[in-house]
Amino acid sequence: MTSQRQWWHSSTIYQIYPRSFCDSGSKGHGDIKGITSRLDYLKQLGIGTVWLCPIYRSPQIDNGYDISDYYQIEPAYGTMADFDELLRRCHSLGLRLIMDIVINHTSTEHPWFQKALKEPDSPERDFYIWQEGIDGKPPTNWQSKFGGSAWQYDEASKQYYLHLFAKEQADLNWENPKLREQVCDVMRFWAKKGVDGFRLDVINLISKDQRFPQETESGPQQDGRRFYTDGPRVHEFLQEANREVFTPFKLMTVGEMSSTTLEQCQRYSDPDSHELSMVFNFHHLKVDYPGGDKWQLAQCDLISLKAIFAHWQQGLHNVGWNALFWCNHDQPRIVSRFGCDGPHRVFSAKMLGTALHMMQGTPFIYQGEEIGMTNPKFKHLEQYQDVETHNIYRLKQSQGTCHQDLMAVIGDRSRDNSRTPMQWDETPNAGFTRGTPWLDVAENFPEINVKRALEDPDSVFYHYQKLIQLRRDYPIITEGDYQDLCPEDPKSWCYLRQYQEQKLLVINNFSANPIDWQLPQSLPQTGWQLVCANYPGSPEPSSAMTLRPYESLVFLNNGEK
Ligand code: GLC
Repeated sequence: MTSQRQWWHSSTIYQIYPRSFCDSGSKGHGDIKGITSRLDYLKQLGIGTVWLCPIYRSPQIDNGYDISDYYQIEPAYGTMADFDELLRRCHSLGLRLIMDIVINHTSTEHPWFQKALKEPDSPERDFYIWQEGIDGKPPTNWQSKFGGSAWQYDEASKQYYLHLFAKEQADLNWENPKLREQVCDVMRFWAKKGVDGFRLDVINLISKDQRFPQETESGPQQDGRRFYTDGPRVHEFLQEANREVFTPFKLMTVGEMSSTTLEQCQRYSDPDSHELSMVFNFHHLKVDYPGGDKWQLAQCDLISLKAIFAHWQQGLHNVGWNALFWCNHDQPRIVSRFGCDGPHRVFSAKMLGTALHMMQGTPFIYQGEEIGMTNPKFKHLEQYQDVETHNIYRLKQSQGTCHQDLMAVIGDRSRDNSRTPMQWDETPNAGFTRGTPWLDVAENFPEINVKRALEDPDSVFYHYQKLIQLRRDYPIITEGDYQDLCPEDPKSWCYLRQYQEQKLLVINNFSANPIDWQLPQSLPQTGWQLVCANYPGSPEPSSAMTLRPYESLVFLNNGEK
């Protein structure tokens, strides 16, 4: 890679899910004015950039990931004037704003799709992917990521269209150059407004194998994805978008990469490839999916987790760039997942934050993570709103899984776990809305909320604030290499970062019990300075020490002789 430092190498990004962030009124769902009203809080946290999940006009089948007009703001969220004001306020506070852009598919209510449907001879027909069925069956056996066939039949034209997600999200045909021009126009429109970049939704799925082969292998991941993941023309398409939009407008881009590989991500994020600034991959969030199946319960496999991070940290070092994240709007809360949302909640939330933020890459914080929000543990199916959750429930039930087992797995895995309203204070509905929230607030809001976190100097909030600051203070965090010191240890995660003469030692106890820890002989035995800890009164590293439950320690050694 041609190494040139960019602003996003040392910035921390905060993800806002508008529907659940802050309602400026009593609508029951968040809005743009609500976000603007909370920017001072984000500034206090210390983040440099806001990632805004989709706020475009949308029928909201998938909470905005089904866009029906790329040029309009969803009326439920406000107006274009509200958006302009949000952007202006961000910039005046020194915050950058990146938009989520969904260009693998549109809503079936998008005028392009409507025209494609009603006027099969129109140019818009070819903006989507249509195929003939085979013997009364869909063209291929590919499965939608939300369950069921990935093809939907259109009675009028007797053809099927492809939808890798809900049937209301029709996949765009990137083979069509006119479509690609339209997509670039959309991105140019927002770039001209002054947005600082894009998060590109499932961007590695845009190029489909035009032979549309049948899936012949079996298993939870064998659903046809190999025929459209990191597909034949994806790099070419991204280079085109980069040439047309990203480079001319100096945008930062982060691509969401579904089921990808390190080799592909090296290409996507190598500055010399002229594609994207960085990549999200999800391998580390599948270490509790037995055999790759999200809908089966299992514990976090720490050894695999560490191996995956080592692979990506080392594989992208001096090649491309990682996006670091534990949480987003599609994942359960990390403290409930890999930590402890009971008595050790605060320690484990801080430990998880440290383990992630001390690596190389750009950290992303998902709203509420910075106060240690948990999964809500809903008791009733009706409390869930997510289209994926309900699709999977119906599918698994029809295959014979009982209600109780389904509730247990959904309670752990549903995307609504992270979508519950942001917990601002202890007033009704956690101060999120004066109306009835669209999704129930987690019951623990009187204890876990922003107001309390700000009042408590030992809160998760101030720990995250410190982590963000450390990245600004110590170039070793941005620049250093990565070495796992105990890859086979099932309970602790200790790694070393090295940059020039400096060493950064990051020690994390991933268990609820005390564990013994030895400073490796290969490391200097003196000269370590503590830069971050999650317990008060933390020690110097000594050759043998006991780590308390979920303890986390970061030491710096300047290597002075
Ligand atoms: C991405 C989004 C997710 C959405 C899907 C389809 O994975 O993060 O929320 O459902 O793409 O757009």
